[in-house]
Amino acid sequence: MYRSHNNGSLRASDINTEVTLSGWVQKSRDKGFMIWVDLRDRYGITQLIFDEERTSKDIMEQARTLGREFVIQVKGAVIERASKNPNIPTGDIEILVSELTVLNEALTPPFTIEDETDGGEDVRMKYRYLDIRRNPVKDSLIFRHKVAMEVRKYLSNEDFIEVETPYLIKSTPEGARDFVVPSRMNEGQFYALPQSPQTFKQLLMVGGMDKYFQIVKCFRDEDLRADRQPEFTQIDCEMAFVEQEDILNIFEGLTRHLLKEVNGVDVEKFPRMLYDDAMRLYGNDKPDIRFGMEFGELNEVAQHKDFKVFNSAELVVGIAVPGGNSHTRKEIDKLIDWVKRPQVGALGMVYARCNDDGSYKSSVDKFYDQEDLAKWAEVTGAKPGDLICVLSGDTNKVRAQLSALRMELAERLGLRDPKVFAPLWVIDFPLLELDEETGHYHAMHHPFTSPKPGQIELLATDPGAVKANAYDLVLNGNEIGGGSIRIHDKKTQALMFDYLGFTPEEAKAQFGFLMDAFQYGAPPHGGLAFGLDRLVAILGGQETIRDFIAFPKNNSGRDVMIDAPAAIDEDQLKELHLKVHA
Ligand code: AMO
Repeated sequence: MYRSHNNGSLRASDINTEVTLSGWVQKSRDKGFMIWVDLRDRYGITQLIFDEERTSKDIMEQARTLGREFVIQVKGAVIERASKNPNIPTGDIEILVSELTVLNEALTPPFTIEDETDGGEDVRMKYRYLDIRRNPVKDSLIFRHKVAMEVRKYLSNEDFIEVETPYLIKSTPEGARDFVVPSRMNEGQFYALPQSPQTFKQLLMVGGMDKYFQIVKCFRDEDLRADRQPEFTQIDCEMAFVEQEDILNIFEGLTRHLLKEVNGVDVEKFPRMLYDDAMRLYGNDKPDIRFGMEFGELNEVAQHKDFKVFNSAELVVGIAVPGGNSHTRKEIDKLIDWVKRPQVGALGMVYARCNDDGSYKSSVDKFYDQEDLAKWAEVTGAKPGDLICVLSGDTNKVRAQLSALRMELAERLGLRDPKVFAPLWVIDFPLLELDEETGHYHAMHHPFTSPKPGQIELLATDPGAVKANAYDLVLNGNEIGGGSIRIHDKKTQALMFDYLGFTPEEAKAQFGFLMDAFQYGAPPHGGLAFGLDRLVAILGGQETIRDFIAFPKNNSGRDVMIDAPAAIDEDQLKELHLKVHA
């Protein structure tokens, strides 16, 4: 038996018991006549004591050879500690060691295994298995497990069945590039790894599975960000015989259950916001509503004066920054530089100070008098002491720019409290999105999404205006889930592919199996998928998903620990009928 207890479990009530413990040497202190060793495992730290009076000479000698991260086993008696440590649960006791076995030696780790480590990101990724020994990473993985367990519990109680779907499939369009796998047995042919199990879950509905879920890996070859990994995990769900309302209710229930069980937070009914309103009020389809700073559109009150920049703009829009009038001129200039950075892309920023005495002072006083600026304040909701920041230009661009500024200012003002949770449904997304580069429409969610009833005719005349039965769940400014009611008849699905520019032959080659299935009694159905990594990170008070993934990829999509991707040898290439072009 390697251990009778773990290193987090012994208390004063265990004094005088004989125990066996195993773990890693966190650190040791050698005072000559006494040696203390902190023994660590997943559960905590227990102090071991070796002392000249009570420990045999051999074991004292052996204890002196222990290095950091050696794996050891000890037997000994639980005794009361002379100087207690109130900071750890085992701080009242220590183990007087009578037997010591070194189970494995260890090289000195390349960074300290401490909560605050001296190791940079790269070295920690290379030695991720050592990083996982550190509390912050270990706790994040345990936290993820807890969330996943609660998801399974909740959905099972609601009669959902977890079904696994294949990974070696054909392209499922979710807007990213596919990762492909060459087939040895079928020369020149490739599988695609699923960007999501979308088509399979719809086929499960045709198969009568009725309520499906799966905690499942998805693969997307896209540029990486803090909230994106090339392989990530979804809580993928689908239901038959439901309308949008049923789906929102079930998954709002799931999210509320998680907030309660995992974070101990009660949340009221989730607000719902139309996509158009989210864009108008926050310039963003995933608004963070933990704080205000809603957009005020100023065209009516700021155009038709002599200020050409505003007059020529499609949209003039501003936000009131609470307490922002305390910014110095220099600070405001810096803010202007910030919005002009290429990542934001604004050409400039107009501002108006709202003085405590009710007067205004703007950067465009030449064109606007006090009465004009009072209207700006009214529209943006600015109060004395605030700063009004105004951007102008093409509607879509300027909204994105002001949204970036709003988030940046909120971050700086400490308004994005990770302990506050503000979920939000964004509903009525457009069905199609115009690709500015190609001039073609593509499905905003995916091509299986159903238009709102009665809107299908609009496709021919005003495709951009067609709304879909599609929704996103937003938590603290992050899209944590999205889904839709699906098309479930062959005719509409064929029409949809046609509008998206597929020839009937292409549609049949790629999705014939789905359209065929729709002819055999497909029930009305819909669903959604949560991004589990994102959900876990946000519930854990963070936005970087990498910290909640055991073995994540770096920003270039590499696993630096195993050094992948990597070249394969000639024989393997040949077997797969592949040639590598230099
Ligand atoms: P969607 O593409 O919106 O929908 O994905 C669902 C959720 O998955 C998360 N997500 C990601 N997380 C980490 N890294 C990524 N690269 C990544 N891409 C997406 C997001 C997102 O909200 N089949 C549909 C769902 C449906 O219609 O039922 C789908 O995949 O949190």
